[in-house]
Amino acid sequence: MTMIPNLKIDPQRLWDTLMETAKIGGTPKGGIRRLTLTDEDKRVRDWFRAQCEALGCVVTVDEVGTMFARRAGKDPKAAPIAFGSHLDTQPTGGKFDGTLGVLAGLELLRTLNDLDYRTNAPLELVNWTNEEGSRFAPAMLASGVFAGAFTREHAYSRKDRDGVSFGEALDAIGYRGTEPAGKRRFAGLFELHIEQGPILEKEAKMVGVVTGVQGMRWYEVTVTGQDAHTGATPMYLRKNALLGAARMIDAIDAIAHAHAPDAVGTVGLIENKPNSRNVIPGEVFFTVDLRHPSEATLDVMEREFRAALERCLTPLGLTFSEVRIWTSPAVAFAPELIACVREGAAAAGFTTRDMVSGAGHDAAYLARVTPTTMIFVPCAGGVSHNEAESTSFDECAAGAQTLLEAVLAYDRRLSA
Ligand code: GLV
Ligand code: MN
Ligand code: MN
Repeated sequence: MTMIPNLKIDPQRLWDTLMETAKIGGTPKGGIRRLTLTDEDKRVRDWFRAQCEALGCVVTVDEVGTMFARRAGKDPKAAPIAFGSHLDTQPTGGKFDGTLGVLAGLELLRTLNDLDYRTNAPLELVNWTNEEGSRFAPAMLASGVFAGAFTREHAYSRKDRDGVSFGEALDAIGYRGTEPAGKRRFAGLFELHIEQGPILEKEAKMVGVVTGVQGMRWYEVTVTGQDAHTGATPMYLRKNALLGAARMIDAIDAIAHAHAPDAVGTVGLIENKPNSRNVIPGEVFFTVDLRHPSEATLDVMEREFRAALERCLTPLGLTFSEVRIWTSPAVAFAPELIACVREGAAAAGFTTRDMVSGAGHDAAYLARVTPTTMIFVPCAGGVSHNEAESTSFDECAAGAQTLLEAVLAYDRRLSA
């Protein structure tokens, strides 16, 4: 057996890098607001490119803005091993969701450079565009194009709530590349991420070995009633769209509770028109997010949601339109990569626990076209999509070290 050098990431450098980039779009409450394809996103992308190029990597941008930084291996013909995540955030995002996976990947490359260690396969660090789906729905848009789940045109045509299209926003920040999305092939892909749930912290485990991602479906609903005077319109004459939406919010919560403990259901975005204190709301737009690890249960939840629309809205004299705009089926990750994560965590001396991801991730789409898996580390209180999101110095370091060990384990397997 060949000797494997004892490669250690630099935890302080990783932490400093996390804190440095957190200033790009940094909020007074200690979070990050770096919506995809905004000026803040451009700044972090320019920074990322410069850091990767300083390490001798070749950076390519594809036609949906995803960035790939390639470090050569010993075998130029071998398919690269990829890792990464996303640098965009929610409007009130934290410092770790997505960012940790990208910056730990950067730390991995820096470590290998410092020690002049060359893997057999090339390595590629990836920053996927629009993972969050907050500015442009759906989530994981660019990885979805990469994996063939959406066409490039579908991505370009997605509009934010101000009517700006994804294609226009890509051009505005100069990140519409020329490489066709999905053209490059990987030997495998690892994504390190914070858990975004409470399990690792509760069980005092350092590393989550992620075996898959639960299924998720997004819907958009417009409820139509009638604008009318709040003082002069008797209760029996009203067609109050906001009241209908309120009953739907309650119904969706009840549907998720009825399929406990694994189901979740949320109305996260609502727009009330005309939004005036003395006008009965005539139109309400809201979004619905349903998730469960089983597609069969999601089918049931979807039927219950549609039945609730009729039940809640029709008696109020309201009409509605409903569209399912996105579905991301449940995913099982690749056993050979999961084995590398176990091996990597063991080599680094961390406790592990198997788990299914409740959040969506680019890895879920990549699993369609390449062997893929994920590594989770804890986040305090399971809180994420929140400016207070918190993963400790040691937890970030553990994630980066496990990522490094897993990538090296896979490289050894591929070249054995
Ligand atoms: C992405 O963060 C999602 O899970 O919606
Ligand atoms: Mn994320
Ligand atoms: Mn997120």
